[in-house]
Amino acid sequence: MKDLPLSIAIHDDPTRAGGLGFLGSAPAESRESANERTSGTDRIQAGGASRTVYLETFGCQMNELDSELVRGHLAALGYRFVPHAEGADVVLYNTCSVREQAEQKVWSRLGIMGKRKQAGAAGTAESGWSSGFVLGVIGCMAEREGPTMMRRFPHVDLMCGPGELDKLPMLIDNACRTRALDSLERAEARAASIALQGNNHRRSSTLAAASDNLEMLDLSRAFDPDRAEHAGRSAYVRITRGCNKFCTYCVVPFTRGAEVHRPPQAIIDECRRLADAGVIEITLLGQTVNHYHYVHGAAVGADGMELPQVGGRANGQRSAVSAQRSTSFADLLRRIHDEVPTIERLRFVTSYPRDFGDDVLAVMRDSPRICRYLHVPAQSGSNRILRMMNRGYSVQEYLDFIERARAFLPDVCIAGDFIVGFPTETDDDFAQTCELLERVRLKNSFIFKYSPRPGTTAIERFEDDVPDDVKRRRNNALLALQGRISAEVHREWEGREVDVFVERISRTSGSSDRRTSRAPHGVELRWERKGTARSMRASHASAEVQEVQLSGRTSGDLIVVFSSTDQNPEGLVGRIVRARVVGSAPLILRGEVIHK
Ligand code: 5AD
Ligand code: SF4
Repeated sequence: MKDLPLSIAIHDDPTRAGGLGFLGSAPAESRESANERTSGTDRIQAGGASRTVYLETFGCQMNELDSELVRGHLAALGYRFVPHAEGADVVLYNTCSVREQAEQKVWSRLGIMGKRKQAGAAGTAESGWSSGFVLGVIGCMAEREGPTMMRRFPHVDLMCGPGELDKLPMLIDNACRTRALDSLERAEARAASIALQGNNHRRSSTLAAASDNLEMLDLSRAFDPDRAEHAGRSAYVRITRGCNKFCTYCVVPFTRGAEVHRPPQAIIDECRRLADAGVIEITLLGQTVNHYHYVHGAAVGADGMELPQVGGRANGQRSAVSAQRSTSFADLLRRIHDEVPTIERLRFVTSYPRDFGDDVLAVMRDSPRICRYLHVPAQSGSNRILRMMNRGYSVQEYLDFIERARAFLPDVCIAGDFIVGFPTETDDDFAQTCELLERVRLKNSFIFKYSPRPGTTAIERFEDDVPDDVKRRRNNALLALQGRISAEVHREWEGREVDVFVERISRTSGSSDRRTSRAPHGVELRWERKGTARSMRASHASAEVQEVQLSGRTSGDLIVVFSSTDQNPEGLVGRIVRARVVGSAPLILRGEVIHK
């Protein structure tokens, strides 16, 4: 149990900095009033206008979206974002708690920052470092670690859980002002720089969710095309927050709280605004995105507008109000597809195997702009382990789902997640996982070694009894198996034509026979010049004219790399081009643009 108040809401007056009244487009008046409260003695002022912020994001796409919203919110208040922590007035880490490794990176950052702060206080700070910058931890680690982190790292000035991000400007303000106080006053004031829901606080009623101010952060999103991915033409849109599944290994239901579903109209309006700003690819986000279900009339604000509401039960049953008019995930997909036709690509992650009805697959089949891509974690191929994980489906049900998906969508590409080394996992359990992967032939998998997480059922009930070297061996074996299957899946695409959403550009050296490039999501691409005679000729010819290499994704999320000698290759980024697949490797397809 946390020993802090569940949520310290300090001021919610929308006319003040940190309130919710001017998200997205800050009226000049609000900005001025924020500046009026400048302390005067402090180089960092109470308004955002003069502050620079460095924000580093760890973890999943949900965190990336949170960071984008935070960036928009703070930028609207006059904060300026900088690419390096060095010299920034505010350093923020948006953190992930899913595995220990992700947390360790942040611990190490905090250690380094602590030394910098000490050096600042002693007047020996290296040049370039702001003396006494504000250090903040936001996201899942803040929520999970709570006050422990403040004790362990007294130089952390603020903490803000993922469910409280709308309060971040206010917390930064408080932290900046606290810095001017003496140490006793400071200790007391630090409590005002914490906003957490509390591990055990789970919204339990529709009303509680309805009054959730966090919705405002999504609603008032200040989309900045210059900062957005892929030339501002790709964006995430959240449809649900939190999770009700309680898989026994997972911290997410504790850090992100109960599953809350946004009203369909708010989601569609957001998609339309993004489309109007030039976005052509939208990825809908939810921990279990296909669990989306909104019951109309159950949560309505004083202004008659529908509000976010708590989701259905984890067992997949709908509540007693299901007889009322509702919007299912399939309905939502169809509405976005039909009502925002300039979105050329509509994707969604992450799906839960059990909640995937034929209605969703039918909408996908009938909607050409919905991508042929599914990310559906299996986690294990052993029914015994799946039960211990509380996943709520059997291996056969997962297999049946994959078969159904391929029957509806013959071209669908499916990715999955697996955890190896879950407590008590035997060689035989692991062999069953390999067998499942062989049978479902996923295009790629994210494979993780089990990491016991504080607060979860698994850590409390099951001993972490699979030795690390066994976990590592199973991890490598599954990766190797997936590598072989990925290579086969990619090879099947050779000779076909695909539409590629061009995501980035990476200039090749032109002189070397061995090339390396960074593709999306940190995949490193390497290949030697050997391929077909045709691609050899293309490579040699283009080396002389400074060949440019681009990469993008198919509708099924396969990475395609292709060369261009276009005068303006930058102009291709953010566009969809037609390409023929001329080669493949385990992680990529090699393409040639088809000029029509
Ligand atoms: N240990 C290892 N992997 C985990 N995941 C979630 N929690 C843990 C954990 N404690 C993995 C799951 C999930 C993905 C996002 O992270 O595979 O699907
Ligand atoms: Fe975690 Fe399970 Fe929810 Fe996914 S479905 S976020 S693994 S509890």
